[in-house]
Amino acid sequence: MEMNIALLPGDGIGPEVVDQAVKVVKAVANKFGHKVTFEEAITGAAAIDAVGNPYPDETHEVCLRSDAVLFGAIGDPRFDNDPSAKVRPEQGLLEMRKKLGLFSNVRPTFTFPSLLHKSPLKKDRIEGTDLVFLRELTGGIYFGEPRGRNEQGTKAFDTCVYSVGEIERLARMGFEFALKRKKLLTCVDKANVLATSRLWRETVQKLAPEYPDVKVEYEFVDAVAMRLIQWPKAYDVLITENMFGDILTDEASVISGSMGLMPSASIGTKTKLFEPIHGSYPQAAGKDIANPLATVLSAAMMFEYAFDLQDEANAISDVVNLSLEKGIVTEDLAEGGKAYKTSEVGDWLAGELLK
Ligand code: IPM
Ligand code: MN
Repeated sequence: MEMNIALLPGDGIGPEVVDQAVKVVKAVANKFGHKVTFEEAITGAAAIDAVGNPYPDETHEVCLRSDAVLFGAIGDPRFDNDPSAKVRPEQGLLEMRKKLGLFSNVRPTFTFPSLLHKSPLKKDRIEGTDLVFLRELTGGIYFGEPRGRNEQGTKAFDTCVYSVGEIERLARMGFEFALKRKKLLTCVDKANVLATSRLWRETVQKLAPEYPDVKVEYEFVDAVAMRLIQWPKAYDVLITENMFGDILTDEASVISGSMGLMPSASIGTKTKLFEPIHGSYPQAAGKDIANPLATVLSAAMMFEYAFDLQDEANAISDVVNLSLEKGIVTEDLAEGGKAYKTSEVGDWLAGELLK
């Protein structure tokens, strides 16, 4: 198969971790006989510095003409501490999601047998956790209008808006995911308070009869926040709106023991995008110490979701598991043992794939 992949390394550790994923993608392509080409484009603070825009039109063009986008991270402390900044790196990410129509953010949470002790949660609670969030990504309070301040600057407001259509397409994807998994779908909302949540619940209830094999549960977001770390094995597929999903998926990433491990896929109407769920980790930028595994596993999701190549995806997860078992890991996982460099982990994974 021929694959054209857009690379958007972004800020902070983004370029370093994307480099490792590229090594792994090249190795997999080599092993399975695919032809892969890469086209790199700028985004985030790096793009603000270069052209004053965190998601330039040229970058969007590159994404549109590619078969998949591999994304690093966005964010820079220079902007975090300046609430008056007119252009922010994060706007680039939001604009990209909107323009590429990426309405569903697939964020799995699973455990690695060799890392169970790294989690702050007790082993028996998390062992065998295998759940996936579908976070709605292009609606809700992140995008709703009106937003801003009153003239005096004494009040600020954001608006949460959802249409039936937006809820339905995400919910259908949730049902389809559940059918291929443990057939349990949890709709996470705050329907006791919010009008948008009541529309979510109503829309999911209307769809449910079309999927008689899927058991549907409705749970308030505050309760999910609690049960998710008490007994994560209670869940299979969770669907939720944009901001609830943002918060809960950070919480869920703790289950696996390190934020540097969890990948994600963003799926919608155009080119699909794959990115680690961690941020730009500016303190580690350029030091060759960041954990590249979340990005490498995002590349595995790319083979599965963008190209429907399950064997290739499995080959990547297998070498990642092997690297963890053998302790070929960066400092966040080294536990007093040898800490490998980011680039060394990438080289090892690629080398192992080509064996
Ligand atoms: C994420 C991030 C983004 C979000 C930020 C950087 C805008 O936290 O991808 O989860 O809130 O969606
Ligand atoms: Mn987030």
